Amino acid sequence: MLYHFFLNPLRDVTPLEPPVLKPSIPIIGHLIGLFRHHSHYLRILRDKVPSKPIVTLNLGTMKAYAVFDPQLQQYISRNKAAGSDQADAAAVLFGFDKKRVIDVIEGRDGVHAKSSSKQYMDAARAMLSGDSLRQMHERAMVYISGRLKALDKVNQADSLYDWLQDLMSVATSEAFFGEKNPYRQEGLVDDQWNFEGNMEFLALPNTVASIIARSAYHARARIHAALGRYYSAHDEEHGAAEVVRIRAVLLRQLGIADEDFAKHEMTIMHGGTTNTIPAAFWVITNIFLRPQLAEELRVEAQAFCESSLDKETGKPKPNKNKPVVSIPLHRIPYACPLLNSCFRETMRLSSQWFGWRTLTQDLELPSSITESRPYILRKGAQVLMPAGVTHRLPSVWGSNDPDVFNPRRFMNDDENNRKVSKEQKGNYLPWGGGSHLCPGRNFATGEILGLVVALVLGFHVDGLREENVRMRWARIWEAIAKPEPGADGGRVVIRRREGWEDLEWDFVY
Ligand code: HEM
Repeated sequence: MLYHFFLNPLRDVTPLEPPVLKPSIPIIGHLIGLFRHHSHYLRILRDKVPSKPIVTLNLGTMKAYAVFDPQLQQYISRNKAAGSDQADAAAVLFGFDKKRVIDVIEGRDGVHAKSSSKQYMDAARAMLSGDSLRQMHERAMVYISGRLKALDKVNQADSLYDWLQDLMSVATSEAFFGEKNPYRQEGLVDDQWNFEGNMEFLALPNTVASIIARSAYHARARIHAALGRYYSAHDEEHGAAEVVRIRAVLLRQLGIADEDFAKHEMTIMHGGTTNTIPAAFWVITNIFLRPQLAEELRVEAQAFCESSLDKETGKPKPNKNKPVVSIPLHRIPYACPLLNSCFRETMRLSSQWFGWRTLTQDLELPSSITESRPYILRKGAQVLMPAGVTHRLPSVWGSNDPDVFNPRRFMNDDENNRKVSKEQKGNYLPWGGGSHLCPGRNFATGEILGLVVALVLGFHVDGLREENVRMRWARIWEAIAKPEPGADGGRVVIRRREGWEDLEWDFVY
């Protein structure tokens, strides 16, 4: 009774809202389902009601609409009524003071203008393209090529994922933080991943979290301290990426203390690595698990890095000093159709973003979009638009193999008169959509594809086995799924290709 009157979020579902999908265990069933199955739960629900484009769910104290129809998803994500209200959760998880940071940025403190928040995000967007993007890529790739150059002829990695995680985390931190990169402090990159792997426990009150998730709690405190020292000393002025420098200027102009915004700026490194590294892992494993595909990609990459290769032998030209292969990063999107298709196909399968939004006002879905009757979605409710469902819909991706990696799915096949359909393009949303479209997509894509081209050209990855590469369904805060524990690629040997042993990389922009 008490539940019904005070907590039941469905007590006021009106006939105009989408139909309620009841859980098998009354009241708490959907919450249990989400905790057990994570992003896969939405797929389970969708399979229960394949003909329903949208349903209403009871999530404990919240009412949510799960949207399965791609057209509806696009309509909602482009609508202003669907906001992204993650500030409260972010403040708790990342350990910053919401009142002293977010409320000031968003002008909710009664002192500052609302426009600061837009300025802050616009700054990030502008700086993740053009010259500043090029500069970030350059720094990341200089670090990556240095590490590849230092590899022996035969190198053993106990876990392919850990190897990549270390390589790309440091590369990304170099790209962001410049000469005084705080992540060079010993153990800080590990702290970042310790924090990230146990984030959910940090949602508990501090006293409880410091006991239950002691290690992650202290890891986060060490990152806060290192970033606090960095910003207090204005270290970002020594060659940090524009996105880091301008954000610091804006935050200081708003009067936020260095130590407060330093905690918030921990989100930079998190955003820059948390999805890029698993995405790189899936691209690399999808390729190196298929030797024939790796070989085809080698041929494609050799043609595109042609200028530095001997046309006769296909090997780097003998050079008095050292053989160098130049990889023109900006040409990869045009010159490597197979690689781009592999990348997009990998993103299709590994992107399991929940697409979480909060409705700031009522939203009508006209019947022209629902293809049935109109619906009204109510202000205050949550909306879930799971990419793990739309990216695998048999009606869009083909009934035979929507869950299977097809390296050529995103290539037009003129011989068989098959093109990537408009519907497929519209249903491919690994970077989100609408006003929250990922501003880091170009940086992530360039970093991943640059590394992959260098790896296929210069190395073999031996010892990869299907059973050591398994995907775990994504958690609520993950856009890209991570590997299952114990299935992170396992022990592999990264071996230089014969004839390419002394190769060095030069990434060109
Ligand atoms: C493969 C790598 C990546 C994937 C799949 C990815 C995916 C996404 C998705 C789906 C969103 C939308 C979230 C939402 O609407 O709530 C998003 C937002 C965002 N991403 Fe990425 N991302 C990646 C890499 C990056 C990188 C490298 C950066 C930073 C350099 C970054 C920075 C951001 C930021 C700041 C937002 C928030 C945008 C906003 O709310 O307006 N991401 N990302």
